[in-house]
Amino acid sequence: MDARQIAIVQESFEKVRPIAAVAADLFYGKLFELDPQLKSLFRGDMKEQGRMLMSVIASAVRSLSAPAPLVPALKDMGKRHVAYGVREHHYATVGTALLWTLEQGLGDDFTPELRAAWTATYTLLAGVMQEGAREFHLAQAA
Ligand code: HEM
Repeated sequence: MDARQIAIVQESFEKVRPIAAVAADLFYGKLFELDPQLKSLFRGDMKEQGRMLMSVIASAVRSLSAPAPLVPALKDMGKRHVAYGVREHHYATVGTALLWTLEQGLGDDFTPELRAAWTATYTLLAGVMQEGAREFHLAQAA
């Protein structure tokens, strides 16, 4: 990602932050509309789940210029997601729900340029988690 993409993602996330709880509700509503089967994977309190999701996205957004230190924790998270029943194709559904939520929250500010920058952000985050998941599968097979 280039410096401008990083700057506009960080700036737009600041606008979403005050409405994080509403954004999380919108996000899970959309996610379960896109794939109702995903509901059964979530066992805990959805408000708490929403807070954890927003907090990971917040630290990733903060670290976009130098993401390397986050990689081990994100890979571990990807491994834990295998145990939650999450499969690789679910990441695309979550990405769609996330972009839709940002569009609802930001309205006209969610320009095509900003959409592309958020797509790059999510692809980065999901890519590292999926790498962790693949390492987990390889270790299981060994
Ligand atoms: C960038 C992508 C994602 C982020 C940042 C993220 C973030 C989180 C966090 C922080 C947790 C709390 C537990 C932990 O840290 O292990 C969690 C749990 C969970 N996530 Fe994700 N997640 C992502 C992708 C996904 C995807 C693609 C799915 C598929 C539906 C998913 C489903 C779940 C489930 C089922 C749990 C456990 C809920 C429970 O135990 O009730 N996540 N996620």
